[in-house]
Amino acid sequence: MSDFDLVIRGGTIGTASAVFDADIGIKGGVITAIGKALPAGQSEVDAKGKLVLPGGVDTHTHIEEPRGGGPTVNADTFVTAGASAAAGGTTTVIGFARQERGGSLTEAVAEHHERAKKSLIDYSFHMILTEPRLDILQQEVPALIASGHRSLKIFLTYEGARISDAEALQVLATARRHGALVCIHAEHHDLIDFHKNALLAAGLTLPKHHAWSKPMVVERECVHRVCAMAEALDVPIQVFHVSGAESAEEVERAQKRGLKVWAETCPQYLVLTTEDMDRPGFEGAKYVFSPAARSAPDHAALWDAMRRGVISNVSSDHAPTRYAGPDGKTAFGLDAPFTKIPNGLPGLATRMPILFSEGVVKGRISLQQFVALTATNPAEIFGMAPRKGSIVVGADADFALWNPTRRVTITNDILLHGSDHTPYEGMKVTGWPEATFVRGVPVVQGGKAVVAAGHGQFIPRGAYEMIKPRGVFPGPFNPVDGVAV
Ligand code: URP
Ligand code: ZN
Ligand code: ZN
Repeated sequence: MSDFDLVIRGGTIGTASAVFDADIGIKGGVITAIGKALPAGQSEVDAKGKLVLPGGVDTHTHIEEPRGGGPTVNADTFVTAGASAAAGGTTTVIGFARQERGGSLTEAVAEHHERAKKSLIDYSFHMILTEPRLDILQQEVPALIASGHRSLKIFLTYEGARISDAEALQVLATARRHGALVCIHAEHHDLIDFHKNALLAAGLTLPKHHAWSKPMVVERECVHRVCAMAEALDVPIQVFHVSGAESAEEVERAQKRGLKVWAETCPQYLVLTTEDMDRPGFEGAKYVFSPAARSAPDHAALWDAMRRGVISNVSSDHAPTRYAGPDGKTAFGLDAPFTKIPNGLPGLATRMPILFSEGVVKGRISLQQFVALTATNPAEIFGMAPRKGSIVVGADADFALWNPTRRVTITNDILLHGSDHTPYEGMKVTGWPEATFVRGVPVVQGGKAVVAAGHGQFIPRGAYEMIKPRGVFPGPFNPVDGVAV
């Protein structure tokens, strides 16, 4: 009887700290040995010439999220999203359970658990608060955090989702009291509205005018504001989708003051620009997402911020809407004003290959930095380490076998998602994952999903050190607990 159910033999393992040749032994879905010349397993995978990298952890994914009130729908289910994520080397996602105004968060979380049961890959949830009433903050949130939902998400823009600064402060205080991380969509709502109204009045309604409605200052101001709120209440936060230089500067300023402020960016902010929204016909609609795509100098600033650790996480912000059909980006016609185009793009499958190709292959980041940004850091920031995000004895056997020299032209059909398009159609990348395993079981192999629906498990997240408050306030008073410090 072998010690191992599976041995991954002869590959080059990449972690956030080292790159080395070794075999991996797996038993019961867990890595139980890493070493040279491990004894034979019950089954074996030949990984010679391949990189064996930790399964990606994508901590910002809108999967099968209901969209009340309009004709457009999220293009993925947990089945297609899991296949797509694994096709691109990702093995764990954090999605969103969203409270609707007037509704219960507990019910929203329970409903999302039902949807996610069919997931192919492992998952966890952030909880979106759209109406942080006292009953929700005092009763529902603490109970949900205790049951493993250890992050909250708030929007400071978007009608129907946004909350006020006063409400955001209550959410931050609640997170501090109960040990949760708050993730923030930071854009200045009224400033966007002012721009939108002026653009509509001037007849400037094309997809590219989406970017005109939210110049960088809209995001930079709000990132500054949320960092100030986090500082005043001594609460760790993660700023979502930092899109360019000015927001990264605000994050760095906060970090230099010692704050626990983490930031993510996404591939779309590293390779797309505002010009993409100006593609012929209505094609620009495929590039309407928020914050808007920026410029080449912003790309350079974000790579620099990643290299220096200011940005520590690259997520997809996967938020797919089909292009065609009555529920798609074109639901309101091919000449619809930008205000009617649903925001968001599909990005689960392309997140890691684009970062690998543009980052590692082009020499902008090391392989270790790639692993840190796509797997190890997100797992640590969101309380899933060491179970997820690394190749280490005792961790779940989540990894992908990468062919680091394979040249791939991205086409929609290889991404396995439910969307009818990818904004990266025709883009050439070098490096692609050829097989992806979740807890020792192949999920995607040779570009095809090979696991049954329901293989994915919910990953509950308990209390963890990283998000403990610092115990430092700007003044002599702790306003969360109402005591002098
Ligand atoms: O445009 C985007 N990013 N849509 C998804 C929702 C969000 O803002 O994260
Ligand atoms: Zn957002
Ligand atoms: Zn998002």
